[in-house]
Amino acid sequence: ANLFADDINLWKKSTLNQILQRGELQVCLEPGYMPFEMKDKKGRIIGYDVDMAKRMAKDMGVKLNLLPTAWDGIIAALVTGKCDIIMSGMTITQQRNLKINFADPYVVVGQTILMKKGLPAKTAKDLDKPEYTIVTKLGVTGEIATKKFFKNAKIVTFETEADAAAEVLNGKADAFVYDQPYNILFMSDKGKGKLVHLDAPLTYEPLGWAIRKGDPDFLNWLNNFLRQVKEDKVVGFYDNLNQKWLRD
Ligand code: ARG
Repeated sequence: ANLFADDINLWKKSTLNQILQRGELQVCLEPGYMPFEMKDKKGRIIGYDVDMAKRMAKDMGVKLNLLPTAWDGIIAALVTGKCDIIMSGMTITQQRNLKINFADPYVVVGQTILMKKGLPAKTAKDLDKPEYTIVTKLGVTGEIATKKFFKNAKIVTFETEADAAAEVLNGKADAFVYDQPYNILFMSDKGKGKLVHLDAPLTYEPLGWAIRKGDPDFLNWLNNFLRQVKEDKVVGFYDNLNQKWLRD
């Protein structure tokens, strides 16, 4: 076989080549996971991932198209070609990685707990009792962690993180498990004076951009792009991004 021809075919099929041909980067994300992707008062999608996607499109020399996608169908959307990449605060898990590929991590987070004020509990273990109700979002790593750490408490899952967190605010649930950056922001806003943040991370969770399998050209571009934005202290893009969205 002609190995060189095989390489050319691989590149032709690469998502990166398709993006360049199309002149547009299509990004799947699910708004609601602050500060990574959320809607502002005018309904525009903003956040950490959005700023990163803008920079990515700019460096590719293409337009950016953000495609809001429900979390429970976001991997299917990628795999069936509805978008080029998922940039949605997705934790790189070994189970997801069997179906899709991830670029190197761009941020590391962990699960933490927002608890109703006044409860005697100080740790997840203290909350793992039949009289307590723990809420989280369906299909996220928060759900996996909740099932792992709470064997005795009652667990209820919600379609969105906002609905789940609201249950603790209105007193129907005792604690909410979700990614630490979300919980920090929720605490500084709606949770102020009403909730307690048990902020010792229960898990180790690198977040990464997901792409379809079998695409070394795209993966190579993404990892080199990531290293550039992360390590280039002259431009300072990454440090500015963290300052802007993750400072607590
Ligand atoms: N990091 C968590 C996970 O991967 C939650 C991500 C939720 N992202 C979103 N845009 N709603 O499961």
